[in-house]
Amino acid sequence: AHQWRGVIREYADRLPVTDATEVITLGEGGTPLVHARHLSELTGSTVYLKVEGMNPTGSFKDRGMTMAMTAAVAAGAKAVVCASTGNTSASAAAYATQAGITCAVLVPDGKISMGKLSQAIAHGAQLLQVNGNFDNCLDVARKLSEAYPVFLVNSVNPARLEGQKTAAFEVVDTLGDAPDYHLMPVGNAGNISAYWKGYKEYAAPYASLEHGELPAVATRTPIMWGFQAEGASPLVKGHPVTEPDTIATAIRIGNPASWDFAVAARDESGGLIDAVTDEEILDAHRWLSAREGVFVEPASAAGVAGLIKKHAEGLVPTGKTIVITVTGHGLKDPQWALRMADGSDVEPTKVEFDVVSVAAALGLED
Ligand code: F0G
Repeated sequence: AHQWRGVIREYADRLPVTDATEVITLGEGGTPLVHARHLSELTGSTVYLKVEGMNPTGSFKDRGMTMAMTAAVAAGAKAVVCASTGNTSASAAAYATQAGITCAVLVPDGKISMGKLSQAIAHGAQLLQVNGNFDNCLDVARKLSEAYPVFLVNSVNPARLEGQKTAAFEVVDTLGDAPDYHLMPVGNAGNISAYWKGYKEYAAPYASLEHGELPAVATRTPIMWGFQAEGASPLVKGHPVTEPDTIATAIRIGNPASWDFAVAARDESGGLIDAVTDEEILDAHRWLSAREGVFVEPASAAGVAGLIKKHAEGLVPTGKTIVITVTGHGLKDPQWALRMADGSDVEPTKVEFDVVSVAAALGLED
């Protein structure tokens, strides 16, 4: 039977690789596009979720990391470095392990989830908890890579966006054309930039490295809607935020590296970048797990929070095709599922091991 070969081999004709490239892959990509029945009912449009938590390390970062690590190996790198709110570090650590390269990660002290921290440690990364936020970490990682022989694998490395653009290809390949709207969370703004690049490339003839000119695959590009957490919404405010704050730690970022690309994605597509509150994010997080059957980490729900917010404002048209990227798996940061809407902890019901007690607890006895 055919097995998905990872995004580089599946989309080799549209990536900066050749047949001779040594590919570092864990089989990333090929993630499901799930029909969101209840969001579709709510809006009167057909809503799909691109479930990126299904990637090997549980987030969309793997798409970019296969390219970045492949480029690092091609460049003869012996060590890589990244700054991260958690998912990039988990991904870098896993792919560096496969490549046989040393990996250093800089994370903001106390502001990354246990799941992500444990991934980086399990894969043997040199993990440094920095007394500063993500923006400080990225600043140091960049300077380190300029002054020392370590290869930067953050999304300021163009190879990362090349890999991440494949998610847009998959959406088009599945739907047969681009959706009307594409929604997603925005933090460092690499992902929205990558999707926009991917959609544009698929809607135009493409000059391939090895295969000459390839025909357009899509007839159009979507309108891009990005959503930041309100306490970390520099792109909405129009200026960097020095003390970003949100429970969605993955997008707790005050000065996105791909700022200009994200603004171009918004403006060229006729889209928007708006903010959602932590409460709206947690409501959307609950909606996804309790109604759609899709478990994500809080930051991943920002796009869904955005859809619900825009619907309430009367701005979501009916009869359209809407894709929302949910970026990372719920098991990355499971504590939020154990909290009720009112903020109290969920208390599991305890029972004796007999059928009568279990039936009573389930309300089957009256
Ligand atoms: N969702 C999740 C789960 C993320 O981990 C990130 C970014 C984003 C959304 C935002 O994507 O930065 O491309 O706009 N996480 C980075 C990290 C910063 O270090 O893992 P973006």
